[in-house]
Amino acid sequence: MSMGKRRIAVLVSGGGTNLQALIDAQGRGEIVNGEISIVISSAPGVYALERAKNAGIHNCVLDRKNYPSSQAMTAALVEKLKEFSIDLVVMAGFMTIVTHELFEVYNNAVINIHPALIPSFCGKGAYGLHVHEQALAYGVKISGATVHFVTEECDSGPIILQQAVDVLPDDTPEALQRRIMEQCEWKLLPQAVSLFCQGRLAVEGRVVHILP
Ligand code: GRF
Repeated sequence: MSMGKRRIAVLVSGGGTNLQALIDAQGRGEIVNGEISIVISSAPGVYALERAKNAGIHNCVLDRKNYPSSQAMTAALVEKLKEFSIDLVVMAGFMTIVTHELFEVYNNAVINIHPALIPSFCGKGAYGLHVHEQALAYGVKISGATVHFVTEECDSGPIILQQAVDVLPDDTPEALQRRIMEQCEWKLLPQAVSLFCQGRLAVEGRVVHILP
């Protein structure tokens, strides 16, 4: 492992509040031994790109519509990641399907944030507000967020960090989503990224050990 800072790519598709949390954490010196080198969006015109520009971070669009298949899009993504010598890929609200070629190059080096306590309310159809609708309909008393390594199977890679919040009696999906973002996601994602960049995540099967 080289001594230089780990180079991070953040993949986005939308508003980018999790990207903003990473940018702010970096500004406070909390991404130890890492730097955000590029922001890649799967769609043009999203606000996450403005956040990257405002922070002076290199950014680009890989529009899924310009590729004939998920495989072709993934190939272009991998090429871009290699071009920027990326060590860690962070999916922060990235809504596009990628294929196994990414994980062959970036084995245990792609992480994602999911707005529920995996293995609850995850997998197919569990994205955006649907996750919180499912949690409220099930009647759980806590929910939260999970940062995990991404593998080929959706939402089932090794778990890095989780944090819970209470579900309140009058919660709407929007209110629960907001509470989970503020109290869990915006803290956990920068923490997990910093741990990775310090070489403090050891993966054994599906268990992630956090090294001192
Ligand atoms: C977050 O809720 C995240 O957990 C999920 O997608 C949402 C992205 O929001 N994977 P933002 O673009 O970071 O604001």
